[in-house]
Amino acid sequence: MADIKFEGWLGHGPDSVNGKMEWGSFEPKKWTEDDVDIEISHCGICGSDIHTLRSGWFPTNYPCCVGHEIIGKVVRVGKNVNHVKVGDRVGVGAQARTCQQPDCPECSSGNDSYCKRGLVNTYNSEFPNNEGKSYGGYANYTRTNKQFVVQIPNGLSSADAAPMLCGGVTVYSPLRRNGVGPGKSVGIVGVGGLGHFGVLFAKAMGADRVVGISRKNAKRDDVLKLGADEYIATDEDQDWHKKHAASLDVIVCTVSSAKMPLTKYLNLLKRGGEFVQVGAADGGEFPDVSVFTLLMNAVKITGSSTGAPWEIKQMLQLAADKKIKPWVQERPLKEANQAILDMEEGKARYRYVLKTQECAEQESSGEKGSEDSRKPKVNPISIVQDALADLHSLRQPLAKKFSKKNDIHPFEDASSLVFFSEKNDTSLLVFGSSSKKRPNSLTFARTFASNQILDMVELHIIPETFRTLSQFKSRKFAVGLRPMMLFSGTAWDSPVANEYTILKSFLIDMFKGDTGSGKIDVEGLQYIVSVAADEPAGEDAKPTVHLRLYLLDTKRSGQRLPRIELEEMGPRIDFRVGRSQQPEEAAWKEALKKPKAGEEKTKKNISTDIMGDKLGRIHLGKQDLNDLQTRKMKGLKRNRDLEGGNGVDDKDTQKRQKK
Ligand SMILES: NC(=O)c1ccc[n+]([C@@H]2O[C@H](COP(=O)([O-])OP(=O)(O)OC[C@H]3O[C@@H](n4cnc5c(N)ncnc54)[C@H](OP(=O)(O)O)[C@@H]3O)[C@@H](O)[C@H]2O)c1
Ligand SMILES: [Zn+2]
Ligand SMILES: [Zn+2]
Repeated sequence: MADIKFEGWLGHGPDSVNGKMEWGSFEPKKWTEDDVDIEISHCGICGSDIHTLRSGWFPTNYPCCVGHEIIGKVVRVGKNVNHVKVGDRVGVGAQARTCQQPDCPECSSGNDSYCKRGLVNTYNSEFPNNEGKSYGGYANYTRTNKQFVVQIPNGLSSADAAPMLCGGVTVYSPLRRNGVGPGKSVGIVGVGGLGHFGVLFAKAMGADRVVGISRKNAKRDDVLKLGADEYIATDEDQDWHKKHAASLDVIVCTVSSAKMPLTKYLNLLKRGGEFVQVGAADGGEFPDVSVFTLLMNAVKITGSSTGAPWEIKQMLQLAADKKIKPWVQERPLKEANQAILDMEEGKARYRYVLKTQECAEQESSGEKGSEDSRKPKVNPISIVQDALADLHSLRQPLAKKFSKKNDIHPFEDASSLVFFSEKNDTSLLVFGSSSKKRPNSLTFARTFASNQILDMVELHIIPETFRTLSQFKSRKFAVGLRPMMLFSGTAWDSPVANEYTILKSFLIDMFKGDTGSGKIDVEGLQYIVSVAADEPAGEDAKPTVHLRLYLLDTKRSGQRLPRIELEEMGPRIDFRVGRSQQPEEAAWKEALKKPKAGEEKTKKNISTDIMGDKLGRIHLGKQDLNDLQTRKMKGLKRNRDLEGGNGVDDKDTQKRQKK
């Protein structure tokens, strides 16, 4: 294997963090018999990669290839390497090696990651003995010392295991070392990559109470889903530090900035409680703290750095045994620059994992490793397809799905949509597409009587928060029912028609279903469609719209009225509205006309009763009672009898009347 060409995304200066890493080759460390070469399949994106790319902590030694949550296949091992062999699936975290001397206080006591004599990081470090620089995992291959190379247990997928190697163990270690388990209350501050592992692991360790502490309410639902018992939004909840004062034994703080209300966090600790800082702000900054906060509460402030190999192995085993499922989003390695930008914007939910092309190709050609079957999909085409499939199944049995790929650009030329509409006798169409300029798009279009486009509106799905129907394990509602629809946010209230009022009308049209049948479910409402628009942040800013579906559950309350609970059913689609085409006034009027043909024609004097029997009504003209021949019936009868006929002609009648 002497011919490996090492290539990766290289930062050449602090500006590389702004989407400007460049793909290029690099010289790995000099080969020694203690080394392992790994063909990389996955690499998580850690907050530290960003600090390093921009020289945030200290000047970085460029060119630098970051990434220290590496998973891959061993392709070469040195003679002194016994614990892994070629072909094994292995991982490497934030460190490459330490001094490992028997008299090192740290290395000899299982605290390797605190070694003061010879710590080499997975990237941006120098190996001793002039062996060269360390390069990280946004690459095709990595060469590293055997010390921190660990086997990945079978029960874990590569995408799930990768971010555990740094993000996971950095919170696992302080939680374990502080005795988190039954009887303990734990706070996790900052719910990003590290923080979401904090919630997962604290729960898995059996803590009595886990509190997710974040800035905004936006992550509340997710954090409770991750298993947290409570959630605090420090920017938005009132008096949270008083309400929850002295309630926690341990806090692990992952916040990556010095701008944080440290004193208020410390107020949450019980007397003697421990505040462990793991987030590392640029320049090593940390907020000031009043001495009285320390004196009056006797709290401890400490820090923690990643974990030793034994801790990494222990954590992976716990994750495999307890089937811990992190929330990862896979991104192709070639999109590393964009993924970094998205990570910096706080879009990750909750960890991006880069995946190499070879690995993606192997998977699509069916050579899937047993470990990789449970990963969520994030490629744009699959998001659009999943969204279409879910909308289709929500509108069963009224909707029809087409999966053929047609090159349609509805806003440039809608003729193919009109054709579809005509052919399938439908007036509401949803079309999915994804391009670089307009990724993850759904276009809603309506046609009217003469098969022209009435109006259209385009939505751009936000991939990070997208969840399919099948990702929710709740039961689903019965087919054909109509929901209650809830539109919240000022966007829907516009007095003049705009893209939001159009969208509202589309969604109502879509979910109201077949109104002709007049069917009403006797058990009442079964589900709610909630469409909530954020308030726009600026004049031109488009609000994010959150589409959620909830099942209504009526539970016994012990009282006359039942208790009502909402359970999210999926899909969960957050989006921004893109282009729209509003109806022309004349077209709108025509579209609203009710066709006469649809009404049932009534026939004069004929009606149908509720049993379906036909009833007729006869109208008689006014009659003169004096003129009625009522007495001479006998005579008439005789005359008829005499003639032997069965009728009386007019002449005869006249004669008789004269008599
Ligand atoms: N000690 C170690 O050994 C170690 C190991 C790995 C990483 N780290 C460091 O840990 C930090 C977190 O890494 P990560 O990968 O989890 O990053 P991340 O996914 O970006 O999460 C960081 C979280 O911090 C909060 N935050 C971000 N900017 C903030 C600001 N300006 N003010 C207040 N809160 C802010 C956010 O939480 P909310 O949105 O919930 O408020 C965010 O989700 C980084 O500094 C990283 O370098 C340290
Ligand atoms: Zn890291
Ligand atoms: Zn050491």
